[in-house]
Amino acid sequence: MPIPNCKKTYCILILLFFGYAVLNAQTYGKNGMVVSSDLGSSEVGIAILKKGGNAIDAAIGTAFSLAVTHPSAGNIGGGGFIVFMNSEGNTTTIDFREKAPLAATNDMYLDPAGNLIDGSNHTSAMSIGVPGTVAGLYLAHQKYGKLPWAAIVQPAIDQAKNGFAFNWSLYRAAAYFSKEGNTNAFMDGYFRNDKGVLLQPEENWKQAELAKTLTLIRDKGRDGFYKGKTAKKIAAFMKKNNGIITKKDLAKYEAIERKPIKGSYKGYDIYSMPPPSSGGVALVEMMNLMELADFKTLEFNSAGHLHLVAEAMRRAFADRAEHLGDPDFNLNMPLDKLTSKSFAKKRFQEIDMARASVSDSAQFGRLYDSESTTHLSTIDKDGNAVSLTYTLEYSYGSQMGSNELGFIFNNEMGDFNPQPGITKSNGQIGSAPNLVAPEKRMLSSMTPTIVGKNGKPYLVIGSPGGRTIINTVFQTVLNVLEFNMPIDKAIEALKIHHQWLPDQIIYEKYLLSPDTRKALEAKGHILKERYNMGALMGITYDAEKGIFVGASDSAQPDSGAVGY
Ligand code: GLY
Repeated sequence: MPIPNCKKTYCILILLFFGYAVLNAQTYGKNGMVVSSDLGSSEVGIAILKKGGNAIDAAIGTAFSLAVTHPSAGNIGGGGFIVFMNSEGNTTTIDFREKAPLAATNDMYLDPAGNLIDGSNHTSAMSIGVPGTVAGLYLAHQKYGKLPWAAIVQPAIDQAKNGFAFNWSLYRAAAYFSKEGNTNAFMDGYFRNDKGVLLQPEENWKQAELAKTLTLIRDKGRDGFYKGKTAKKIAAFMKKNNGIITKKDLAKYEAIERKPIKGSYKGYDIYSMPPPSSGGVALVEMMNLMELADFKTLEFNSAGHLHLVAEAMRRAFADRAEHLGDPDFNLNMPLDKLTSKSFAKKRFQEIDMARASVSDSAQFGRLYDSESTTHLSTIDKDGNAVSLTYTLEYSYGSQMGSNELGFIFNNEMGDFNPQPGITKSNGQIGSAPNLVAPEKRMLSSMTPTIVGKNGKPYLVIGSPGGRTIINTVFQTVLNVLEFNMPIDKAIEALKIHHQWLPDQIIYEKYLLSPDTRKALEAKGHILKERYNMGALMGITYDAEKGIFVGASDSAQPDSGAVGY
């Protein structure tokens, strides 16, 4: 594209604009597609596909790469979920959510009087769950991968060892953690070169210790993390920092293959993550409700449309708070009922299209889960598709790590209900299904999802965003299936969020008109604005034409869809 004569500042702005437009608009492919929070990591995934790898190989390679390029959420020190649909339409999931250590108790965040020590479940080494990512990626590869494990891990080692261009997101974090008054020596040192100098944008960033940890994983697989040198160093780090994770916790950790949550919407099949994620159940509950609506009278972004969407969210989040937790500890969760069409019918009849319902603060509240997670979607030439979301919980997790290991630990224990029996209107939940227990997995909102059409993947989608994940994925799925939006428009369109409590609709600023705001307020909704929600990474697949369309959310400027 010729650049018109312009002053330097304007040129840069134009280049930035078109640069982002190229990164975030639709990308096409017929042999494969990878979409992730880092363009370079998406390219790693594509290179794996080009070598003959399948969608699982590409997802694993991209995930390891994001642990290098996108360490605020890309990780080997956290956990997550995979939804995998093969080319015959058979779908499964891999649960690699972190677990509470063996020494964890349900009162570990309380003072002697039984009160929650404010923030204690999200800070210090006590907030770290036993990481699951390496075990999950290894299990996915063992069961469904094609290329040798070493070939998939190697590109991330190369990126860590040889370095890559330090981007602006990383620089922003570096500036934050190095500013005066910062007391976190690990995070301050994390973004410095080997001479101790803070990295600058576009400078080459090498991570020698992370490369060594990844090399052990390459050579020994799962055991390269959960046993031997790495496990010994993790256990020593925990002991030194008053954490409770031991070598035994690490050796015992297992990822699990689980049956997906399955729903449907007007002929499409929806596959998403079952508990310990709440995402799949809530998504299917809400899509079932939407199926009963008459969209001829509910235009996109009208007050009626948004009211119905918010009321669906309110109900799904109330059910989430009441019923959901780790399925290995909650054997009788009413999953079939919650995801049934008959339950949706009953729920739909309760909704008053003229008035907002009232959330009952005496019973349900707000979980403190954070928004820093990351999602990637892959698809290969045979139509195998992967939807993978993983997280450290907060941005840069616990913000703790060992210089000898080169990676950051999660603070995922904060996703448990911290105070048994105490549910407060200010936002704390105390219901039993998600209380801390040894070896239990904390409830998640991650919603990696694949929508199928005639036994083939049709839409692969997911997002970061704490509890907003469920709702941003829900609205994006609805945008594609009901409003026929192309994937990039579906991702960028207005999103709202209601999570039962606080009883309010959060909406993306600039995308909701003042008139619609007034109409929603007239129905009794309290509205709160916010700049952005989520960072969706999606692919649609036209199986008849054999064309993939990928798009990444402009909310994540370093993200990218790469197809070929
Ligand atoms: N830590 C965010 C989630 O799992 O939902």
